[in-house]
Amino acid sequence: MKTPEFADVLAARRVIAEHLPPTPAWHYPVLDAAVGAEVWVKHENVQPVGAFKVRGGITLLASFTAEQLAKGVVAASTGNHAQSVAYAAALFGAPCTIVMPEKANPAKAASVRALGARLVLEGEVFDECCEIAERIAAETGAYFVNSGEESALIAGVATATVELLERAPDLDAIFVPVGSGTGVAGACIAAAELAPGCRVIGIQSAQAPSAYESWRTGTLVDRPNRTAIEGLSTGHSFALPQAVMRALLYDFLLLDDGEIRAAQRLLLSAAHTMAEGAGAAALAGLWARRAEYEGRRVGVICSGGNASEPELAAVLAIATAAETSAGR
Ligand SMILES: Cc1ncc(COP(=O)(O)O)c(C=O)c1O
Repeated sequence: MKTPEFADVLAARRVIAEHLPPTPAWHYPVLDAAVGAEVWVKHENVQPVGAFKVRGGITLLASFTAEQLAKGVVAASTGNHAQSVAYAAALFGAPCTIVMPEKANPAKAASVRALGARLVLEGEVFDECCEIAERIAAETGAYFVNSGEESALIAGVATATVELLERAPDLDAIFVPVGSGTGVAGACIAAAELAPGCRVIGIQSAQAPSAYESWRTGTLVDRPNRTAIEGLSTGHSFALPQAVMRALLYDFLLLDDGEIRAAQRLLLSAAHTMAEGAGAAALAGLWARRAEYEGRRVGVICSGGNASEPELAAVLAIATAAETSAGR
């Protein structure tokens, strides 16, 4: 599988523009004041399926022949790669099967069903779903859309960073959540071309650090997958995004799930934004490094907004940053 280049990102952008408008990027006075920096939030949570992944699914399926589309597609996911593939399959008329964990986020499962895909709820975590999905693909002849090892997915999701840098060209850094690594790899490719001085920094959960450890050690490693942050939940790592990260990623942070939940709360209270956990991980990374970025202009990719109702209730119970600093 070939590493995508910036030309592939531009081609993806032309394809996506036929189907989706650009998403907004703003900075918010209360959030800026809380962080002490100008914080540009790239709003992928407002995509029709509530997450940036849809850019990848559209880019990939747009490249399929009629024969490939007719054979159908299969994907495994905690829900946003699932929605991306199901959305694109509906758009291009391909039969689609999605495998999600038994205890998947009901909002994501409902969306996959509403998009007309066949939904298989089987396996405890994402990694088990991958094995099931690969088996279904082998049995049916459908194409298995690997969530990490797919050049078109990286080129597609990179368009979110292109849009962000067009809106805010002189960012000092962009923080990006990492699961399989397609989003951060895409951000690296886009920033290297459009804003070479801009640092790209990845964030992963310390409760599922496979991508971080692979980047740090320079070899692909598996790690226990115990995070409750759905989009960051993977126990294995992916060669294609890792190759890009090794070449271009400035830094990579591990944060506890609790720190990511606190950033979800901050987005709600300071930026009128409902993010899911993974969608708030970038802000959690900036929050952890806020002393270093004081007075700077920083992008955070709010990659998704598909929080479940119990997740939101738990987030609302967390004290806001302002309450914590006031000692309440
Ligand atoms: C909302 C959200 N953010 C971030 C990620 C991580 O993206 P990637 O797998 O491209 O690293 C995901 C993955 O599904 C996601 O759904």
